Amino acid sequence: MALQNKVLQLSCRSVLGEMLHQRFASNSRALRKSATSESLGICGTGEETLPGGLITPGARAEVVAQETRVKSLKEMPGPSAISNLIEFFYRDGFSRIHEIQMEHSQKYGKIFKSRFGPQLVVSIAGRDLVAEVLRMEGVAPQRGNMESWKEYRDLRGRSTGLISAEGEDWLKMRSVLRQLIMRPKDVAQFSDDVNAVVGDLVKRVDTLRSQQTDGLTVLNINDLFFKYAMEGMAAILYEDRLGCLENEIPQKSQDYIAALHLMFSSFKMTMYAGAIPKWLRTIIPRPWEEFCSSWDGLFSFSQIHVDKRLGEIQDLVSRGEKVKGGLLTHMLVTREMNLEEIYANMTEMLLAGVDTVSSRGEGDVGVDTVSSRGEGDVGVDTVSSNGRVTQEDLVVGGYFIPKGTQLALCHYSTSMDEENFPGADDFRPDRWIRKDAQDRVDNFGSIPFGYGIRSCIGRRIAELEMHLALTQLIQRFQIGVFPVTEEIKAKTHGLLCPAAPINLQFADRQP
Ligand code: HEM
Repeated sequence: MALQNKVLQLSCRSVLGEMLHQRFASNSRALRKSATSESLGICGTGEETLPGGLITPGARAEVVAQETRVKSLKEMPGPSAISNLIEFFYRDGFSRIHEIQMEHSQKYGKIFKSRFGPQLVVSIAGRDLVAEVLRMEGVAPQRGNMESWKEYRDLRGRSTGLISAEGEDWLKMRSVLRQLIMRPKDVAQFSDDVNAVVGDLVKRVDTLRSQQTDGLTVLNINDLFFKYAMEGMAAILYEDRLGCLENEIPQKSQDYIAALHLMFSSFKMTMYAGAIPKWLRTIIPRPWEEFCSSWDGLFSFSQIHVDKRLGEIQDLVSRGEKVKGGLLTHMLVTREMNLEEIYANMTEMLLAGVDTVSSRGEGDVGVDTVSSRGEGDVGVDTVSSNGRVTQEDLVVGGYFIPKGTQLALCHYSTSMDEENFPGADDFRPDRWIRKDAQDRVDNFGSIPFGYGIRSCIGRRIAELEMHLALTQLIQRFQIGVFPVTEEIKAKTHGLLCPAAPINLQFADRQP
């Protein structure tokens, strides 16, 4: 598969994936575990065999018991720790996580375990199992181990933001932000600002294509959409412009882009930074140093913009003038979060919003290259998998999973599963057409924005940015794929994205 066209198709399918909602009939294969791990004699790792205490007297009961016997993690299939170590650390598996998860799910089934050093991960690659896990969530779900993020923040006296916070801190921030950006009507107020950025994007397309001999091609559209996403996010979050779509990008914005690239390109490093025991940092210092320096860059950029707006507000107040503004102004005036929390949330939201929206932006444009209607699918070009740390003992897929286990929800695998999406490799926009207003094309195989109380808080912002850009670009240009001879694959680069630049042609639409 996958010439350039294919990459675009994948992107396109994810563009409207957000339409999906997550209610569909599922077999309840996961049960809330009533017994605790202690009562079953399971210890922390959960890898010990269960005692045979589930057998009830009588032949029939015995059959039932055998059929419903809850298996231990020890019985769960999966690659050996050593083969995983070689795959990830030696064969650069971090950039192929999506492929490895697919291979493993084909080999070991819809639920399997892997070991990364001391860390045990249970991967869930079945749509219904994903649904069950997410539907069982409590009030403050945990996505993954954020120790290294927290450590950096403690080291520098910074606060956690919505991505890195847990428990009470997370609940408090989430409830503040939920009221500001979760509903479509909340984000509609950003339309004028985003449309102004889209206007600059269109101008930039014009400039860039005029620099090519055919007068049509924009090289490396990935980069252009990245800049668009960044400019759009800054307009919303900072109520400010960064100049990313200008000929000369201001130095401060360039520094930020460098820090952001460092964060994503050192994705492996940051994985190691979390995985490498602290005492090893003296011997292998680079991963942790890069991790800290990229965060320094991201935080300082946000702080500059937050402080700038704060200064403007203070000036207005001192002159007795009325303070008007958007998201940041509201947060600074109401102080439902303290200043450090505002810095942290602005930093984490910008980080979360830039690469996700730009990766999908490629898909937006691709929509028009193949069809006038986009096809939604899982965010295969944005997040290949997501995570949850179990907050209590669970039984999933017949296996006992103790509290505190890291789960990987393999969205790429579920989205490419023929059972969930027949012709998963094909571009079929019609699979998302609703028969009527009541019809929901729901499928837990595709949840690009996650699910439930910990789902993406920026979803409506992302949709606004993508839809406004798509509308103006399609109105103005007939967009085509630049002929390619080489396959462009996807790679995991923090997010899942094309492994090489994509070039598109923008012809003027005939009136
Ligand atoms: C197409 C674009 C985007 C995609 C596909 C996307 C996807 C996701 C996903 C899958 C999650 C994890 C959800 C879960 O665990 O259930 C997430 C979380 C998050 N996203 Fe997005 N996102 C996008 C754009 C944005 C934007 C524009 C923002 C900025 C406001 C943003 C801010 C966040 C934050 C702060 C979280 C953490 C939420 C929490 O832990 O409470 N995202 N996103």
